[in-house]
Amino acid sequence: MNTAFRTICIIAVLITFYGCNDSVTTENRDYELLSLNELDEHIEIGLIAWRMPGGITGGSACVHCHAPDGLDLAYLNYSDFTLRRRGAEHVSPGIETLSASKLEDIVNMVRALQVKHNIDLVNPRESIPFQPGGNVLQGEDNRGRDQAFAKVIKASSFRFTTVAIDSKSEALRQLEEWQQLPVSDIPIGIELNHWSEDPYYSRSVRILSDWVPAVSIKPAINDEEEWLGLQINYTNKPGNRELANLLKYGSLLYDVSEIGALSELSRLKYKALLIAQHQFREAGTVEQVQKITLKNSIRDLQQYYPEIKNPFWEIGVFFDRHPSADYLDLPENLMRGFSESNTAELALPWYWLGWMADPTFEFTDCDDPGGCLAVISDRLAEEGFHFHRVFVVAKTVAAMAMEDKWYPFEPATQDQPVPSFETPELQKLYEHITENLRLMLDYSASKK
Ligand code: HEC
Repeated sequence: MNTAFRTICIIAVLITFYGCNDSVTTENRDYELLSLNELDEHIEIGLIAWRMPGGITGGSACVHCHAPDGLDLAYLNYSDFTLRRRGAEHVSPGIETLSASKLEDIVNMVRALQVKHNIDLVNPRESIPFQPGGNVLQGEDNRGRDQAFAKVIKASSFRFTTVAIDSKSEALRQLEEWQQLPVSDIPIGIELNHWSEDPYYSRSVRILSDWVPAVSIKPAINDEEEWLGLQINYTNKPGNRELANLLKYGSLLYDVSEIGALSELSRLKYKALLIAQHQFREAGTVEQVQKITLKNSIRDLQQYYPEIKNPFWEIGVFFDRHPSADYLDLPENLMRGFSESNTAELALPWYWLGWMADPTFEFTDCDDPGGCLAVISDRLAEEGFHFHRVFVVAKTVAAMAMEDKWYPFEPATQDQPVPSFETPELQKLYEHITENLRLMLDYSASKK
């Protein structure tokens, strides 16, 4: 091979794999040769291991912390190496427990699931479920990311950025424009949560903000059979009713007053994880998951489980109540290398998910619906996300109006002093949008 050609090859490889220290492009190639029966066999054998007690955390099985059939690990496409490394923590020498060879059954299962469901392979370190537009807007700090968001809004030339409201018909037109705005397509400057933030790769408190619970949802001995039965029912027929049964039973398995903060967080995460992995199936690919908003998930579950509320939002509330990792009494392996323990900033991405899941706060537990809007609005303002804040307020109000519901939203808008921006253009844009929002409300409220 001559040097020039070799250099091109190296560059091509670097481009493909750059930043993808865990990227998998070929690991399921061999599995593509298998028949559907053979794939199903791998899945069936893998599920036995998936449900088998492991050697740590009181004999928890993978199924006690991950998706009922392991589909989360297939969608997020962890490498064989990562599956083995992470699974090895659970391997134990007992006869009835997970052995190293059984762990191989799980690796086979994950690859077989990917082929069977024709799952797009993504890089789990980069792919963020439900991230609007698929990627995060960049900036030096929150203000910078907020400005990047302002530019996206401006470039989309919405009426509310270009036309001043001077009549009722224009107000209603802009209200409708807000109602049509696709939240899931517009990229934001707030990074939502990775499925897994492995302490092996990450050194920040963000490892507490991923989706997978650190404490397992493992039932007491006499509940085990029923719990496993529900897991199997869902695996065989992943419908809303089966999902609701899992969520309902999972909530009964503990009494919040008796468990520590980390367990409480894990319970909330497990609910969020179940709902999210359900969306993976419906969306088909992680890429599509980024395009959906979670909006129907809680509504669909209501029918079978009216007390479901909004687990995404509740995780935000949890981090608000526990603004430091010190509250969590974390095991050594999780603490390793934290330079600071401030967890307050972990709330916002979960609030954003909670808002996407329930944009009118119909199911979310707040003092009143206006209360929820004030929570996310204040948080956005505090963290310097001013354009994001106006966006959320306007979009929520528009969504409420669509359902013919109105609530006084003064606390969420007018109490915020006008921030100062770096350029006169941004200043003007902000004032223009907020003034339009105010007029849109005045005019459209008088519609009633
Ligand atoms: C007690 C709960 C629990 C159990 C049981 C559990 N996991 Fe996990 N798993 C987690 C958590 C939490 C994370 C995310 C952070 C981390 O890696 O610790 C995770 C992450 C992972 C990851 C991604 C790692 C990465 O690099 O991002 C893989 C793969 C994985 N688990 C496989 C398994 C397998 C296989 C089993 C069963 C043998 C299993 N897990 C059992 C809690 C659990």
